[in-house]
Amino acid sequence: MAGPIGVFDSGIGGLTVARSIKDHFPNEKLIYFGDTAHLPYGDKSRDAIRHYSQRISQFLLAQGCKVIVIACNSASSSAYEVVSEVCEGKALVINVIDPMVRYVGKHYSGKKVGLIGTHRTVDSGEYEKRFSEIAPDVSLFSLSTPLLVPMIEEGYYQNQISHEIIEDYLANPGFQEISALILACTHYPLIADEIRELTQNKFEVLGSPDIISRELAEALRHTERQKRSVEKDHFYVSDFTESFEHSTKKFFGVEIHLEHLDLWS
Ligand code: DGL
Repeated sequence: MAGPIGVFDSGIGGLTVARSIKDHFPNEKLIYFGDTAHLPYGDKSRDAIRHYSQRISQFLLAQGCKVIVIACNSASSSAYEVVSEVCEGKALVINVIDPMVRYVGKHYSGKKVGLIGTHRTVDSGEYEKRFSEIAPDVSLFSLSTPLLVPMIEEGYYQNQISHEIIEDYLANPGFQEISALILACTHYPLIADEIRELTQNKFEVLGSPDIISRELAEALRHTERQKRSVEKDHFYVSDFTESFEHSTKKFFGVEIHLEHLDLWS
């Protein structure tokens, strides 16, 4: 199998995952699709997210992608089966949940672990389901933290307001004595250091980007690798505003050009 690596998310938060992929595999061409027209997925129904994810994966397949990374927890928890069906025999599919559960199962066996994410991710119960299948001896406490995505998008982090919101959520008694906290949302890597500082490193803070890149390294062993970087990456969004383009630097680390592509017109 040859071709680019496809990455999709509800918007630009998945660029945290795309950045890590690019750092680990600089020669591979990336095709990113951010569904900014339907953002946020965190408050959408399962059916709506399945519908959007199906169309996006068809598009990424049509671009010849050899691997499709669902870089969104809300989509991973609702649409993994649909995307896998679309891609069967054509591309490998990686979601953000299974690699994290496997990692936690390996390193936190017998321990208590916390999780924060959107309403959709937490209400889906998908992490609980996967833990009971893959790592049943990890005890999990999950909390939806819906204020964090808009807070981060508005640039509110490392300040008084973000400190108070984060502290208030993490004061939930369910988080007592956790050994690690799973950041089950692609926006949250931007507040990982803030969480570490506020909680004085009492537990590990685990984000998807690096764990996904490790999973991808394994998947890419079964594909044809690019020997040198020759092709340009593409970053598509289903709705374009300048503010999205300005925010890309926050999530990707460097400025990138967004191309507008409406898959639903
Ligand atoms: N990308 C989403 C996730 O990881 C967060 C933003 C949204 O709600 O769409 O769950």
